[in-house]
Amino acid sequence: MANQNVKPATGKLGVMVVGLGAVSSTFMTGVLMARKGLAKPVGSMTQYDKIRVGKGADKQYKKYGDIVSIASLNDIVFGAWDVYPANAYESAINCEVLKEKDINPVKDELEKIVPFKAAFDKNYAKRLDGNNVKDCKDRMDMAEQIRADIRKFKADNNCDRIVVLWAASTEVYVPVDEKIHATVASLEAAMKANDTEHVAPSMCYAYAALKEGAPFIMGAPNTTVDIPAMWELAEQTKLPIAGKDFKTGQTLVKSGFAPIIGTRCLGLSGWFSTNILGNRDGLVLDEPANFRTKEVSKLSTLESILVPEEQPDLYTDYYHKVRINYYPPRNDNKEGWDNIDIFGWMGYPMQIKINFLCRDSILAAPLCLDLVLLSDLAARAGKYGIQRFLSFFLKSPMHDYTKGEVPVNHLFQQYTMLKNAIREMGGYEADEEID
Ligand SMILES: NC(=O)c1ccc[n+]([C@@H]2O[C@H](COP(=O)([O-])OP(=O)(O)OC[C@H]3O[C@@H](n4cnc5c(N)ncnc54)[C@H](O)[C@@H]3O)[C@@H](O)[C@H]2O)c1
Repeated sequence: MANQNVKPATGKLGVMVVGLGAVSSTFMTGVLMARKGLAKPVGSMTQYDKIRVGKGADKQYKKYGDIVSIASLNDIVFGAWDVYPANAYESAINCEVLKEKDINPVKDELEKIVPFKAAFDKNYAKRLDGNNVKDCKDRMDMAEQIRADIRKFKADNNCDRIVVLWAASTEVYVPVDEKIHATVASLEAAMKANDTEHVAPSMCYAYAALKEGAPFIMGAPNTTVDIPAMWELAEQTKLPIAGKDFKTGQTLVKSGFAPIIGTRCLGLSGWFSTNILGNRDGLVLDEPANFRTKEVSKLSTLESILVPEEQPDLYTDYYHKVRINYYPPRNDNKEGWDNIDIFGWMGYPMQIKINFLCRDSILAAPLCLDLVLLSDLAARAGKYGIQRFLSFFLKSPMHDYTKGEVPVNHLFQQYTMLKNAIREMGGYEADEEID
């Protein structure tokens, strides 16, 4: 059943990634290897998941690409920006996520992915000191230079469409300021006035992407597109935006495990999450102002799943703590511990311990692919503004907090939203209620 309202994914899809570090180079290497048939894109919903369409005797289980037109891996062209000049091959080697035998077969293609100079401000990530950085007069000039990069990349690579994905370091926390972040006009005025305190470099990337007709995805917990000015710009340009923060390891577990406690009506008195992490992401997050951004994102998950106001006997005043510790020997192989203090019948306490020995970039790479392909799909389907159906992939899903909207963090409700969006874009009825 082809939906006439979705433009088919024809031609090249340019995927321009801000940051060419561990996550991006693992993502790119995996896509290039997969399309040569040398690796499997495990963990990617767009490549594997099958969902039901139709009901009763007519029901069928289909992959997303058989329900609606999704860009083929063969049509992706990668571009990037980074503070360091290393190309994608050098970056993949330096990050030590993948073995050389899994990188070398696509060495030639990776070497051609050379980062544009970054739109960067050291005040936003003090621990980075690369010099592949643009020289900018003010924040508007920064955005204009990024726009020029996007136009050049699109023309040089003969791309039909572009998606911009942020997989760069987490910036310092930028609180939403009503005066600056409320409207496109106030944001543009601040960019022209070079208000470096309120306009993060990431906002310049997002502004540039939307102005150039490209959806923008925020994979870090940065404020960036999570402000009314960007929602307005996305409406004006009729483009999708999504964020924030890839939901990879500990928060994925949390948003999948908390429903067990909630569904079973068990009580919660505390949830302590801690991690050790040794890659460059961990190094940047070792800076308190950068960690603050991550902490706000990670903390938001439980409160909308186990809601004190709805079940005061079970969820009042539980203690929720999240810690990230920089520990170089582990590099990208993060280890997360969750200690969950629950209580049952008559208030008797119990504990659950979860120890996740994960690989950060191995978990993030398929999310990059899915977010990019589904944002491109959303744009072709004429969807614009915040893409709530992508909440499934994100730790801190964007929502209109100015209207008191509560984000959906419950993994299985998010999955229902995702499936229904695919069904609808494919011309089928959305048929599962979120309750
Ligand atoms: N891997 C995961 O599980 C996971 C989960 C959620 C979020 N994230 C986020 O994804 C991002 C990338 O993670 P990573 O492990 O690849 O980090 P990384 O440090 O290996 O790579 C980030 C790259 O971004 C570059 N960069 C920083 N600021 C930039 C700018 N303004 N313009 C262009 N490039 C810039 C850095 O030089 C670096 O090379 C981080 O923000 C991280 O918090 C990762």
